[in-house]
Amino acid sequence: MENYRRLLLNNKAWVEDKLNVRPDFFTRHSLSQKPQFLWIGCSDSRVPAEEITGVEPGDIFVHRNIANLVIHTDFNMLSVVQYAVEVLGVSDIIVCGHYGCGGVKTALSRQHLGLINKWLRHIKDVYRLHAEELDAIADEQQRNERLIELNVTEQVNHLAELSFVQRAWKTKGRPMLHGWIYDIHTGYLKQVKKVDPGQLPHDIYVYEFPDLDGENEVS
Ligand code: CO
Repeated sequence: MENYRRLLLNNKAWVEDKLNVRPDFFTRHSLSQKPQFLWIGCSDSRVPAEEITGVEPGDIFVHRNIANLVIHTDFNMLSVVQYAVEVLGVSDIIVCGHYGCGGVKTALSRQHLGLINKWLRHIKDVYRLHAEELDAIADEQQRNERLIELNVTEQVNHLAELSFVQRAWKTKGRPMLHGWIYDIHTGYLKQVKKVDPGQLPHDIYVYEFPDLDGENEVS
């Protein structure tokens, strides 16, 4: 059987399973979505958001790219975050990295892979920001894993630096931002960063909203 046919057959079985448990599953879903969470994860095939968090379709709005980066010139990611924050009204945004990330490993090397170098260069910037700590780690795997953690915390900072995230903090008191790591060796998630609404990495990134002065200040 051709590889792709397995997916189509699986889909038929999946639909039957869902309907057996809940006959209105698709009728209900076809009306609207109201996910509470936005997930920004790595494209890695081993880290599917819904499966590792044990939730159902409809629970998580998902954006994935190589090495779970939040880059302020990426209109794809920006559109996803703005829609999630302003229209869906998610309560939490999770940036989830994972140990064994090929993107981070490649960024640590001098390998030239063409276009993707441009994307992975952002991880080299994270290394440079934390070079003192990372250079002091002798073991290569430990250094790699620490960079994976620092990469996630920096991407969470990037979310906090977005004007529409800061605006939602002021007007709605949400979303909370999270940095998690998925350990591909054990399957467990680990929290490495949590940012409450209003908590910014540095004053230089603070935006003012004169039209909101005095309204629903959260801090
Ligand atoms: Co990865």
